[in-house]
Parts: sequence; C-alpha cells; structure tokens
Amino acid sequence: MKLSIKPKKQSYEIVFGRYLFQRIADESKKDKKYAIITDSNIKDIYATKLKGLLDKKGIKNHILVFKAGEKSKNIETCLKIIDSLSKLRYNRNDVIMALGGGVVGDMAGWIASNYLRGIDYIQIPTTIVAQADSSIGGKTAINTKFGKNLIGAFKQPIKVYIDVDTIKGIDETNLSSGLAETIKHAVIQDKKFFNYLNNNMDKILNKDPESLLELAKQNCKIKGKIVKKDPYEKNIRVIVNYGH
Ligand code: GLY
Repeated sequence: MKLSIKPKKQSYEIVFGRYLFQRIADESKKDKKYAIITDSNIKDIYATKLKGLLDKKGIKNHILVFKAGEKSKNIETCLKIIDSLSKLRYNRNDVIMALGGGVVGDMAGWIASNYLRGIDYIQIPTTIVAQADSSIGGKTAINTKFGKNLIGAFKQPIKVYIDVDTIKGIDETNLSSGLAETIKHAVIQDKKFFNYLNNNMDKILNKDPESLLELAKQNCKIKGKIVKKDPYEKNIRVIVNYGH
C-alpha cells in the first residue's frame, strides 16, 4: 500500500494600514487567549494600548515582557516566557502576538514554534526592518553562545498587521537600518521601486504615512515573492540575507 500525505498549504494575509490596533482587537476571538510578547521598550507604548482594547472586548490576554535588546534573544529568556505560558494555561487553541521589532518577532516566533509543539502566532512589527523583512517569511530563531540565530525553525505566522503609525516612534538608527533594507530590496528586485525611493526620500525621511504605507507594501511584495519561491532558503532566498 502506498499512502500520500499532503498537509494543507499555508498562506496568510498581510494587513497594511494606520491605527490598526482597534482592528486587531476586533478580529481577535473570545474563545482564545492572546499572549502579547513584547520588549521593555514597546510595552508602555503599544502593548498596554493593545491590552486595553482586548480587555474592553472581553478577550483574555496577557503581556509577557522581556528586556529590550539582542542580548535577551537566548534560550533562558524564552524558557521564562514559556513557563509563564504554562502557568497561564495557554493551549494550542491560543495565540501569541509578536509585538515589536525583529528581536521580538524572532523570539516570539521561536516560542510559538516550540511551545506545545507549535501554536499560532501573529506578527505586529513596529520597526521598518521588521515591517520590510523579518515579520514576513516565517524565520524564527534565537542565539547561542556560538552565534546568532543558531536555533530556530521556519514557522509562518497566521497573520501580519503592518501599522505604519508605529514607525512614528522609531529613532534615527532604526530608520536608517529600515531604509537600508528597503533600498536593498529595490536594488535586487525592482527598478521602479528604486526610482520611487529616489523621488520620495524626503517624504519617507519625514515619516509621511502614505509614503511609509507604499514602502511597506512594496517591501512585502518583494519579500513575499522570494519567500513563495523558496520558503526554506534552499536557493534564491539567500539574496535577502545580503548585508545581514
Ligand atoms: N531575513 C531574511 C529572510 O527572511 O530570509
């Protein structure tokens, strides 16, 4: 006998917009719990706001916070968060929300791919780098003493919300690294987008919301096309690692 097993294909929606936190709360479900994993920089700016909106809708949720920075991206910090999920009795019906930049996304995704052998997670990226690159494509990882991103898995989020208003708060360094990532995407894949960047750089540097929306959409279009062709980085996907 020959048996063929074909797991369902994964696809997920990326929602682009402004002031999306109310929509996130509206689309959350009463029969699930939501763990908002975030860092100490984002907690007071966005996590408490999202928590308030979920509370108002009667949706059970918890903020699980760690100290901001790459130094936290390790197994000890993740195990502490996993212990909190266990104490709060999160099960496979529940959902993790990764609210923050690339470090938060990588760690929350890593936890989502390991806790109970995997639970759903949503990406809510709050930096340009995370909105352009790391929240798309399901790479999750943590560091070990031997190097960066040495333990991880490919696990796609169930949804991504890109709220360009979260970019208002980022500093110059974050803005520059986000734009570097964006220019790289344009250079490797899209001449028209490169010209758009050239002609609109002043507006982008002033964080004009319409330009940031265009930036996010084009970045995700480019990254999405590459991830679709090569989800597990066997060949073409390595081009988006250029410069990392
Ligand atoms: N950050 C590179 C990738 O997702 O492949």
